[in-house]
Amino acid sequence: MSMIVTGAAGFIGSQLVDRLLAQGHSVVGIDNLSRGTRENLALALPHPGFRFVEGDVSDAAAAVAAIGPVPGADIVWHLAANSDIAAGVADSRIDIRDTFMTCHGALEIAKATGARRLAFASTSAVYGDVPEPLVETHGPMLPISNYGAMKLAGEALISAGAESHLAQAWIFRFPNVVGGRATHGVINDLFLKLRRDPTELEVLGDGKQKKPYLHASELIEAMLFIVANGGEAPRQIYNIGPEDDGFDVAGIAAGVIAASKTGARIRYTGGDRGWVGDVPRFSFSVEKLARLGWRPTLSSAAAIARAIGEIAVERGFA
Ligand SMILES: NC(=O)c1ccc[n+]([C@@H]2O[C@H](COP(=O)([O-])OP(=O)(O)OC[C@H]3O[C@@H](n4cnc5c(N)ncnc54)[C@H](O)[C@@H]3O)[C@@H](O)[C@H]2O)c1
Repeated sequence: MSMIVTGAAGFIGSQLVDRLLAQGHSVVGIDNLSRGTRENLALALPHPGFRFVEGDVSDAAAAVAAIGPVPGADIVWHLAANSDIAAGVADSRIDIRDTFMTCHGALEIAKATGARRLAFASTSAVYGDVPEPLVETHGPMLPISNYGAMKLAGEALISAGAESHLAQAWIFRFPNVVGGRATHGVINDLFLKLRRDPTELEVLGDGKQKKPYLHASELIEAMLFIVANGGEAPRQIYNIGPEDDGFDVAGIAAGVIAASKTGARIRYTGGDRGWVGDVPRFSFSVEKLARLGWRPTLSSAAAIARAIGEIAVERGFA
């Protein structure tokens, strides 16, 4: 089968591409390389089953033309988005274009290539700042960032697509995803800061922010499991995450400092959240996914530890 992956050069997209190729699929990947890199596609680019298209998915007509025909197109995996939540709060046009209009582009790519199924990388941010465990049926949905708002709007647009040209749409709500090839995120940021100043590590907020973390390898496994076992319902929504309440930022900072062997001291910027639009604490219900038969093997703490090890190597600290 042929798969199309938007955001293919990004952190998660590039690992999904590798996994789909390993399963024997042909893959067309599109990315505008605003954050993703060709290095992330080092394994995929020489593969005979892979074709890379550099293009902007928010410009549907241009993206459709750049991709061209895809014989046997089956699933569009839509992962292209803005991944800098703070930037999107400062300038709402960023998420309108890269988080929402890319959903329109992904749907048009599906329509033009004849792909009848679409899998969407949504997020816990669609729920907003909610104290109780987040379940898929929660409502009303009141996101607190433009990123979360545009992901929620994207879910709505994709739901409508499942009434016309799509046979099936999966909406996957990710927690914080960690692992090697990270283009952003707390572990990556902390290592970059230590590269600039190995004596003092600035940590946003008070360090008590606590969130669920999943390793990218397990996230991809879960998505593939749902696609294979989730049945025929035209719209399916799943939280994908660990089975615990998460891990705190102070613990992540300590782990990064230990891995960097810098002995840096920590300076917290203060306040209960890292940036405007940050949801400082949440817990994710993953019961629906467990009922389907998939459970992660790593806790949040174990996923963080593995990711710190991987990123330390990539950033030259180990
Ligand atoms: N990493 C996480 O913790 C996390 C959590 C929740 C949801 N998600 C979602 O998962 C998906 C992948 O995230 P990621 O962590 O790999 O981020 P990423 O930034 O590494 O990947 C996104 C990719 O999309 C590309 N892109 C952005 N705008 C584009 C456009 N207009 N046209 C074409 N390409 C464009 C970027 O260059 C990048 O390669 C995103 O949709 C993100 O919102 C990620």
